[in-house]
Amino acid sequence: VKRITTHVLQEMKLKGEKIAMLTAYDYSMAKIIDGAGVDVILVGDSASNVMAGHETTLPITLDQMIYHAASVVRGVSKALVVVDLPFGSYQGNSKEALNSSIRIMKESGAHTVKLEGGKEILESIHRILSAGIPVMGHLGLTPQSIYKFGTYTVRAKEEEEAERLIEDAKALEEVGCYAIVLEKIPAKLAKKVAETVKIPVIGIGAGSGVDGQVLVSHDLLGITQEFNPRFLRRYHNLADEMHGAISTYVEDVRSKDFPNDREQY
Ligand code: KIV
Ligand code: NA
Repeated sequence: VKRITTHVLQEMKLKGEKIAMLTAYDYSMAKIIDGAGVDVILVGDSASNVMAGHETTLPITLDQMIYHAASVVRGVSKALVVVDLPFGSYQGNSKEALNSSIRIMKESGAHTVKLEGGKEILESIHRILSAGIPVMGHLGLTPQSIYKFGTYTVRAKEEEEAERLIEDAKALEEVGCYAIVLEKIPAKLAKKVAETVKIPVIGIGAGSGVDGQVLVSHDLLGITQEFNPRFLRRYHNLADEMHGAISTYVEDVRSKDFPNDREQY
């Protein structure tokens, strides 16, 4: 199979082909997601919520991200694998950002990294890019700044923040990012960004006027239940099906139905 590269994504934008991106944190899920034809697999720091049960993305460590990323890489043969730099692994200075990115690339075998922020992290992005590591940007509702925002509500509804977001997107393109994620901003603003920059813009809660979409796989599949934002389309209710299968197993063990004669040696 032909691997998806950052160049393929750029061509897709030029041809008007939409990019499909999803999260994965482990080998088995990554294999299914890759096999289903997803273009980009994100080892998101949402693993902090989805895998570890934390309330925010802040607690997850670089070592933990590398463990998730290495597991995902072993399950993927086609998709581009992007890994989030976790909170605290890049904000200190550009050398720290570079060292964290190098560790991700060397120890997991992933293909690119993603960082949250605009102008304030340009120097770090420049340094990572100089080492030959492709960088994806992330603007809008950046969850690592949740305590600054104080709420998970839509960002950049006001003129001033919208202007700043457009300037940040231009700056990310100019420094050399190969794509940008826009999270939870008005569809009209996201469309404007996608028309302004030449690199692919991938949205989550950013409407249909962008170059691709990303969701958390566990949300799309209905494994997570509590998270219900307007932008989330649930394609399945896997939690119900898993609950059903597992309760049946419990009943079968208790009733001595399992294992039967053919299920033993
Ligand atoms: O961590 C994550 O899952 C993300 C996506 C929601 C874009 O950053
Ligand atoms: Na993230």
